[in-house]
Amino acid sequence: MDLNNKVIAVTGAARGLGFAMAKALTEKGAKIALIDVNEALLVSAAEQLAGSRYYCLDVSNEAAVEAAFAQIWQNFGALNGLVNNAGIIRDGLMVKGEPGNIISEMSFDDWQAVININLSGVFLCGRAAAKLMVEHTQQACILNISSISAEGNYGQSNYSAAKAGVEALTTVWTKELARHKIRCVAIAPGFIMTDMVASMNQAALQKASAMVPVGRGGQPEEVASMAVNLFENDFINGVVYKVHGGMRI
Ligand SMILES: NC(=O)c1ccc[n+]([C@@H]2O[C@H](COP(=O)([O-])OP(=O)(O)OC[C@H]3O[C@@H](n4cnc5c(N)ncnc54)[C@H](O)[C@@H]3O)[C@@H](O)[C@H]2O)c1
Repeated sequence: MDLNNKVIAVTGAARGLGFAMAKALTEKGAKIALIDVNEALLVSAAEQLAGSRYYCLDVSNEAAVEAAFAQIWQNFGALNGLVNNAGIIRDGLMVKGEPGNIISEMSFDDWQAVININLSGVFLCGRAAAKLMVEHTQQACILNISSISAEGNYGQSNYSAAKAGVEALTTVWTKELARHKIRCVAIAPGFIMTDMVASMNQAALQKASAMVPVGRGGQPEEVASMAVNLFENDFINGVVYKVHGGMRI
């Protein structure tokens, strides 16, 4: 897909990987619908990206997602891509303790918050975007952002389950949407130096960084360049690309 003048919605676009991908796509001539829950950061992001517009909403709110995509269609009159990127972490062991002494457990609130945003949010935005793409027969591509944690990471029952679900959706949508000329791909990043990673337990972060064979965390631009490539290369479909510096969970 030639990205020039194509319209791409990016969720979680106000900062981190979402902003880096929105910026890289803008540099290729795409017009970006920036979606995020953080209005102050969205305003600043939109000011930096020529041709963009912003939409402040929670991707796990069905009515808000439906309204936002209707508005995106009204504003741009096209939708050629979606980057399903918005996500959070609420890490913790499912059960922490020892015989006779249970210290803590992952709360159901923490389970549901991550599933709602990282999995249901991906479904809701994917469905809203695909409806527009199918109805108006757009040449299009959906990029889902997974994680190497999809393989099952210690302390991440909620996050790993959500990301495994995101990878399954990538396979399902590849099959269901192919006849409409809509591709679906995913990126599973490893440790990338964004605010989300900075909020992690520092001891765990240091330990994990030391496990990256290239010897460092990745930069958001290194994920963004992969995103651009996946949009541009029409022969790539139905796969999850790992951008992890060689790291294994
Ligand atoms: N940074 C990493 O190392 C890493 C690794 C693997 C996967 N990922 C994935 O990449 C994506 C982006 O991560 P990041 O590191 O840039 O995180 P980040 O916290 O820096 O940015 C996430 C953005 O999503 C927005 N957001 C959160 N909840 C939202 C909601 N309900 N509705 C709309 N927007 C919402 C936040 O406001 C924020 O702008 C996430 O899906 C994350 O799971 C990140």
